[in-house]
Amino acid sequence: MSAATQLKPPVKKPAHVADSLVYDFDMYFDPEYLAEPQAKIIKMLESVPPVFWTPRNGGHWVFLSHQANFDAARDVVSFSNEVVPYSKIKVAQTVFKILGKIGLGKGHLPMPFPIMLDPPMHTKYRKPLQRAFGPANIRTLEPGIRELCGELIDSVLAQGGCEFMESIAEPLPVKVFLQMLGMSPDNFLEYRALLKEHMNNGKTEANPRKRMETLRKISAAMRPTMLKLKENPGDDMISELWQSEIDGRPITLEEMENYGVLLFIAGLDTVMQSLGFAVRHLAADTALQQRLRDDPSLINDAVEEILRRYTFTVPVRRVTKDVEFMGARMKANDHAVLLLPGADLDPKYFDKPTDVNIEREGKPHIAFNAGPHRCLGSHLARLELRILYEEFLKRVPPFRLDPDKPPVFECGHVVGFERLNLLWDKPAA
Ligand code: HEM
Repeated sequence: MSAATQLKPPVKKPAHVADSLVYDFDMYFDPEYLAEPQAKIIKMLESVPPVFWTPRNGGHWVFLSHQANFDAARDVVSFSNEVVPYSKIKVAQTVFKILGKIGLGKGHLPMPFPIMLDPPMHTKYRKPLQRAFGPANIRTLEPGIRELCGELIDSVLAQGGCEFMESIAEPLPVKVFLQMLGMSPDNFLEYRALLKEHMNNGKTEANPRKRMETLRKISAAMRPTMLKLKENPGDDMISELWQSEIDGRPITLEEMENYGVLLFIAGLDTVMQSLGFAVRHLAADTALQQRLRDDPSLINDAVEEILRRYTFTVPVRRVTKDVEFMGARMKANDHAVLLLPGADLDPKYFDKPTDVNIEREGKPHIAFNAGPHRCLGSHLARLELRILYEEFLKRVPPFRLDPDKPPVFECGHVVGFERLNLLWDKPAA
């Protein structure tokens, strides 16, 4: 099916939305966006208001400019992460629990806490993760990640090319996830299938029932290991999280399952797509590729600049009250997305934003967002990226995009590649 045929029909503009703020943009199927996501955003930054309303996918606001994204991300009073209010989630979780208790087979309804909570609940549930994902803990993962990278790269080296997403970008974060959480590598195929299911759910507007089912499958897959590690703790993140307290009492299995689904949905396709954007840029920018080969000490700067140039996540918010924001009149319960790629490509904020300039100084990107929900996995994501750059450049000869198989993108709350074909000269036998 072509992107144009998948476009959802536009809805009628509500009266409170000014005509001048309407722009037709489908964040899943806009054909120009799907053809080259960041190019479409650069075009929008030139001609579309910094905050606009689109009639697609039920009608919602889009924060496009750096200022709009940065200010909205920090204004948790006006822009809530509780797209479904916590009071409703609590009712659903209680109903599921009662059904489970009376034998009707439902049990715990796992929810990715704390990403879908606002302060103060958010702060309480973020704390244990903050400790677990701190730089000291994450540094200990380096040898394991390097070994996994090496194995995956070596498995395709002799082929003279690969479909990068399937061969490396997708399996790497899944394997790191299993290792970090103390789960058996034998679970790899099951988790990979769950990741595909989760990503398919993200390719269209929300289907809450399907998403809930996937979350339940993820927590069911993790539960046996969680219970085992509670009794016999190891040197892993689940064992560490079992030691944490919420409100001064031990953490419960249900709360652990909420953390499990959060880490699964936040930490896999994001890393995967960041690896895709990195390798795709280097395949096209052979001068930078060579510079990094010659001087790997530049890799950290390249990681940051490529994260900025190809920022790719689009978090969602619910407007909590009638509010005027950057000239837009919004009503309580309107929906909005933070188009973070727009923030990091905004020419009003970054000089020559489309250039990849690894000497760029001064202004931090917001690929990991800003404000209280700023990414907890940024140290891990940067480590996975740096090691992949290092090992790929060390092991693979100069690589390029396959001219006969151009990249295929997918868009939504995470923007990235469905396919990314690379070529290199086969090493001599
Ligand atoms: C390059 C890779 C990654 C990018 C670009 C990224 C980006 C983001 C962004 C933009 C947010 C904020 C969402 C919002 O405002 O609603 C976020 C939150 C989060 N991320 Fe990441 N992420 C990445 C990798 C990871 C990894 C590897 C993990 C851990 C396994 C992780 C765990 C989290 C968690 C737990 C949150 C929720 C924080 C909160 O609500 O307080 N992320 N991430």
